[in-house]
Amino acid sequence: MRVLVTGAAGSIGSVLCSGLADRGHEVVGLDRVPAPDGYAGAWFTADCADADAVEEVFAELDRPPVDAVVHLAGLPAEVALPEELESHLLTTAALLDAMVRHRVSRIVYASSIHAVGRERRTGPPGTVSLRSDGPPRADTFYGVAKVAAEALLRLYVDRHGLDAVATRIGTFNTQPENLRQLASWLSPDDAVRMFDACLTAPDPGYAVVYGVSANTRGWWDLAPGRALGYHPEDDAEHWATQLPAPTERDRVEDGFAGGEWALEHFHRPALDLKDIP
Ligand SMILES: NC(=O)c1ccc[n+]([C@@H]2O[C@H](COP(=O)([O-])OP(=O)(O)OC[C@H]3O[C@@H](n4cnc5c(N)ncnc54)[C@H](O)[C@@H]3O)[C@@H](O)[C@H]2O)c1
Repeated sequence: MRVLVTGAAGSIGSVLCSGLADRGHEVVGLDRVPAPDGYAGAWFTADCADADAVEEVFAELDRPPVDAVVHLAGLPAEVALPEELESHLLTTAALLDAMVRHRVSRIVYASSIHAVGRERRTGPPGTVSLRSDGPPRADTFYGVAKVAAEALLRLYVDRHGLDAVATRIGTFNTQPENLRQLASWLSPDDAVRMFDACLTAPDPGYAVVYGVSANTRGWWDLAPGRALGYHPEDDAEHWATQLPAPTERDRVEDGFAGGEWALEHFHRPALDLKDIP
């Protein structure tokens, strides 16, 4: 499959570019920064929030066209609402419009657990208490922008018959670093497995899957991902004994899907342009 990966220079993007290539995909990278040293494939430097720039990329890609888009470009942080909407909603809009014009029929999107970050754990670790078909419950403006991007994906599936999979990623990291990440961790290898499955599953239509590994203490429903062929193999529990003893705050964070982002420290006016310190 020929795949355009946006945000290809980032932490998830660089892992996916090599991981998807290893699985036989032809990867075309796109980022607003130049290709990292050592990157060998095709590359576009463009801002995904600039619809004209995105159109130019797709026009160039028409020879030959891509089969799918993996959309990772975006700021993985809590900033003011307008910036969040530009970074997550407007970039997705520019890509979807270009996909419709150029008949690219599938997008796999890096959404986030923060789309439902205010959901609370309701059972003991390891029992599912968060399904993927419930209403959104964002914990931050970042989460609101991810919810909006998911809604836009679904609109384009309904209107244009695209396939769109929103992957609500937990914590992408080489290893878990605190109590909550024993549930929310997504390993680099599982990230590649998940995106590969979402790219190649037959006719997913619109789907939402949780982007986490097979964590013993996980509580987010993995069944929709498994239905698309995502079978995670890694487990954060492997590191459990190496973490420092959890504090009371760690336990509070662990009770929310969004962890710390659901706590008061993140409360602020929507149009406040100062970043969270
Ligand atoms: N890392 C995580 O644990 C995590 C969890 C949930 C969701 N996500 C989502 O996954 C995606 C990738 O996250 P990451 O951790 O790799 O972030 P990152 O900051 O390491 O990488 C993001 C990349 O996107 C590029 N970018 C940002 N805005 C762009 C734009 N408008 N046009 C073109 N390129 C742009 C940046 O230059 C950067 O290379 C983001 O959308 C993020 O919200 C990440």
